[in-house]
Amino acid sequence: MFDIIKKKRDGLELSQEEIQLLIDGLVAGTIPDYQISAFLMALYFRGMNDVETAYLTSAVLQSGEQIDLSDIEGVIVDKHSTGGVGDKTTIVLAPLVAAAGVPVAKMSGRGLGHTGGTIDKLESFDGFDVDISIPDFIQKVKTHQVALCGQSANLVPADKKLYALRDVTATINNRALITSSIMSKKLACGADAIVIDMKLGNGAFIQTLEKAEDLGQMMIRIGQKMNRQVAIIISAMDQPLGFSVGNALEVKEAIETLKGNGPDDLVELCLVLGANMLLFANKVKSLEEGKETLQQLLDNGTALQKFKELIQSQGGDITMVDQPNLLPCSSHSYTYNSPQSGYISQLSAFEIGRASVALGAGRITKKSKIDLGAGILLKKKIGDRVEAGEPLAILYAANQACFEKATSYLDLAYDFSDNKVTASPIIIKTL
Ligand code: URA
Repeated sequence: MFDIIKKKRDGLELSQEEIQLLIDGLVAGTIPDYQISAFLMALYFRGMNDVETAYLTSAVLQSGEQIDLSDIEGVIVDKHSTGGVGDKTTIVLAPLVAAAGVPVAKMSGRGLGHTGGTIDKLESFDGFDVDISIPDFIQKVKTHQVALCGQSANLVPADKKLYALRDVTATINNRALITSSIMSKKLACGADAIVIDMKLGNGAFIQTLEKAEDLGQMMIRIGQKMNRQVAIIISAMDQPLGFSVGNALEVKEAIETLKGNGPDDLVELCLVLGANMLLFANKVKSLEEGKETLQQLLDNGTALQKFKELIQSQGGDITMVDQPNLLPCSSHSYTYNSPQSGYISQLSAFEIGRASVALGAGRITKKSKIDLGAGILLKKKIGDRVEAGEPLAILYAANQACFEKATSYLDLAYDFSDNKVTASPIIIKTL
């Protein structure tokens, strides 16, 4: 392991055998966390070329079991986000696309850095079980057209370990690590085609369009090597998606969206991602037709019904869907008021993400326990007019002490302008 770390530190290319050795040792637990962490930092700075990334993806994919969905009819299409703040897209999209008749077998992750994770969010439902066995997972997709699972011990265990270490060693945003992490999970879950929501902006792990395109092209090439179609939707993450940030708060907003009352940016993103999924699955002939089909399923309650079916099939309490006030909510709240009048010109998703972690909605160490009821409810977003002293956000936490740190991040999050400001469109580019 010393030699592998040194080789990467010095910017040299690793062989397939070396990458395999590393992943085998990681999974077997024979390489200590401090050596893996040192390797991750060397890789963060030195990067990996396409060949190394393909070897890494394949070693991570093969570190555990793979789900065979070949006896489910039709094209299995999966979606993944590169991670954002307030990103509750999967909670809406998985039942929505399933309601359109396309099977969704999705493995999701937990929070990473200042970004949230779908699995943490769904655990807001009492009883909701993400640790389902592979046969059970397959059966659920067959019966309900949708199932969501976490990374149980035998599905891509290498990514699970790397992910947890990257989260706490500031080594998340590296193209080889992001590519291998996402593609290995999608391939292990049996996806024929993959739609990636590539977040771009201060709240994302990718901050320039050039880097987003570069990462996107790499994912498309890795997908092609493995005979999978990949579409990349580059979407804005300069401000949080929707108005809620934090696990149960986001679930509540997702439920409203499934009822047809979602915020514009979230709805548009779900329709575009979903339409691409329907197109890959040959359910529609154009993206426009896909968007229309999905909008109808939101408007007529079919998507919400499918969501209830999903929650119930995995042991969750569906009374919480009908009565979202039963979902966890932290006992203390604090109203953050605007320091000045003007139009909001900046609402940094990164600072809002950090504030929500400070409130207890994310993890600070690998073992941190998150507070499902903690988070932030935004009252205003970029382009909105606000008067001095008017509420900008409501903060929720289990204890009062969290508010001081969180508000110090909020102080950095906002900028104001005397002139009208227009928020950038949610969809930036499709590859
Ligand atoms: N999501 C993942 O699953 N992996 C990453 O590396 C980043 C976002």
